[in-house]
Amino acid sequence: MSLKSKQHNLFLFPRWMNAVRPYIAVGMLLAPIYAVALIYYAFSPTTTMARYMPEQPVPYSHALHAGDLGIDCRYCHNTVEYGAAAAIPPTQVCMNCHATIRATSEKLAVVRESFESGMPIPWVRVHDLPDFVFFNHSAHVNRGVGCRSCHGRIDRMDTVYQEERLSMGWCLGCHRDPDPNIRPVASITDMTWEAPGDAARFGAKLREEKQIQPSEDCSVCHR
Ligand code: HEC
Ligand code: HEC
Ligand code: HEC
Ligand code: HEC
Ligand code: HEC
Repeated sequence: MSLKSKQHNLFLFPRWMNAVRPYIAVGMLLAPIYAVALIYYAFSPTTTMARYMPEQPVPYSHALHAGDLGIDCRYCHNTVEYGAAAAIPPTQVCMNCHATIRATSEKLAVVRESFESGMPIPWVRVHDLPDFVFFNHSAHVNRGVGCRSCHGRIDRMDTVYQEERLSMGWCLGCHRDPDPNIRPVASITDMTWEAPGDAARFGAKLREEKQIQPSEDCSVCHR
């Protein structure tokens, strides 16, 4: 390699950088303003939809099935402990019972049609984070954060609605202070579970034992 090309390689920036340098300076001045604006929007309530309760194609009631009948959440949402998403059950799961229970009910007509045609029931999604946010159910429930901490008393809802704002501030609030929301993993789906004594103190003990430490790094939720 000649000395000349070696020297050339030592240059950190190509020569055309000189021409764009003033623009970079302006960009660097504006960047903090841009960041502040984004963070302001992230925390503003207008970007979230607490209490969103869409109408569903079947009058399926969690209050009846998960509440009165006491069917465990995982009977239907069976991926919640293993994956990022909690699966919505296929029609077959409903038919395990409704092939015989209320087999001719008008309220179950859409379920029977779906079963016969093989087309899934068009359930309307309730919770939906923006695509640039990474969320994982198993990472939470296997560390003892119960469904109720994030979804509220689903076992009392006839129609599911979104209980929490699902804003960045909400996520970070718990990541900073998870103690009141940590319970034994065996009770994650128990809607009526209460900590013996002070919830924060009980959770703190579990957190220390299991070295639970939720992160506040941007890259954990934005990858
Ligand atoms: C018998 C099956 C069944 C059981 C048991 C069940 N679910 Fe569901 N769940 C469904 C179906 C079907 C939907 C989609 C329709 C709807 O939103 O109501 C759903 C929807 C949901 C949603 C909203 C999903 C979305 O679109 O954002 C949440 C949250 C939820 N269930 C939590 C729970 C929790 C917590 C439990 C236990 C307390 C539970 N479910 C028990 C069948 C079930
Ligand atoms: C473990 C059994 C079981 C499963 C699984 C189950 N159900 Fe049910 N469902 C019942 C029982 C029991 C009733 C109450 C029947 C009664 O009131 O006599 C019921 C009632 C209903 C009703 C009201 C029917 C009427 O005529 O009032 C609807 C709608 C319904 N279920 C939808 C669903 C859907 C949708 C699924 C699947 C996501 C599902 N069920 C899964 C047991 C089950
Ligand atoms: C730490 C908070 C948190 C906990 C704990 C939690 N969820 Fe969720 N759940 C969410 C969020 C956030 C979404 C929306 C995810 C998205 O849009 O990607 C969601 C979505 C869902 C959905 C819709 C399908 C999906 O995965 O997007 C179902 C069903 C559901 N949760 C059921 C449950 C059940 C059952 C439990 C308990 C075993 C549970 N969740 C525990 C926060 C939580
Ligand atoms: C009620 C408390 C609570 C809420 C609300 C909550 N988290 Fe968490 N999160 C935790 C705990 C506890 C952990 C586990 C930390 C550990 O394992 O050390 C965790 C872990 C995580 C992880 C790490 C998963 C991995 O792969 O390591 C991600 C990502 C995450 N949370 C995203 C979110 C997002 C996004 C939201 C809001 C939509 C949210 N969390 C809301 C308590 C919460
Ligand atoms: C625990 C999870 C979590 C962490 C950590 C996190 N975010 Fe977020 N962030 C979210 C969620 C959830 C949203 C979506 C909020 C909404 O839709 O209202 C969001 C939205 C945003 C947005 C978009 C705002 C908008 O208007 O939609 C920006 C920008 C952002 N975050 C930047 C950051 C930066 C910078 C950091 C690190 C300092 C960070 N986030 C750390 C969960 C997280």
